[in-house]
Amino acid sequence: MATLNKKIAVLVSGSGTNLQAIIDAIKNGYLSNTEIPIVISNKKDAYALKRVQNEGIENLFLNPNDFSNNIEYDKKLVEIISNYQADLIVLAGYLKILTHAFVNSFPNKIINIHPALLPNFGGKGMYGEKVHKAVLKSGVQESGCTAHFVTTEVDAGPIIAQRKVSVLPDDTVESLSKRVLAEEHKLLVNTIKKVLFELSAVS
Ligand code: GRF
Repeated sequence: MATLNKKIAVLVSGSGTNLQAIIDAIKNGYLSNTEIPIVISNKKDAYALKRVQNEGIENLFLNPNDFSNNIEYDKKLVEIISNYQADLIVLAGYLKILTHAFVNSFPNKIINIHPALLPNFGGKGMYGEKVHKAVLKSGVQESGCTAHFVTTEVDAGPIIAQRKVSVLPDDTVESLSKRVLAEEHKLLVNTIKKVLFELSAVS
């Protein structure tokens, strides 16, 4: 009997390099029996949407201005994603806070990638360059990235895996973020494989 493909719904807000890493891993067979039936962004101009348009992957800009509040937005998000029977929901550079309306609809099925070694340098408002600025300011010798399950508390869900990156004496926000982002791409696809195929083997 043919193996049913595992389905990943991906939420994006920005350039989509993490999304691209997933697409590439599906193409090169690292993520076998896996497909991305839908990509949703809260930002109309997210380059991530361009990436999927070029790949013929279904994608949608869900406009926050069309909803009276975050809970209504998330309820629509749940409705859309539920239509695709996603096995996993991946936040790939998704910068909108998710409410309980969304998180509680997909228990233990949402993962996020954060550009630091949580629990340090995480939490509300800690994203993108702000993270690397704080890391450099702290003087720590090591940074990295974290893949974790998403709960209603920002960046506080159970950690699945991390990858470390040395902080170099002459590092700038740009040089550090570039090295961390490269590790994020590897961490994300490794984590997706683990959650979809290894953990499911256990449950
Ligand atoms: C990256 O800084 C990543 O750490 C975070 O979102 C940012 C943009 O990622 N998750 P992407 O290039 O849009 O995937």
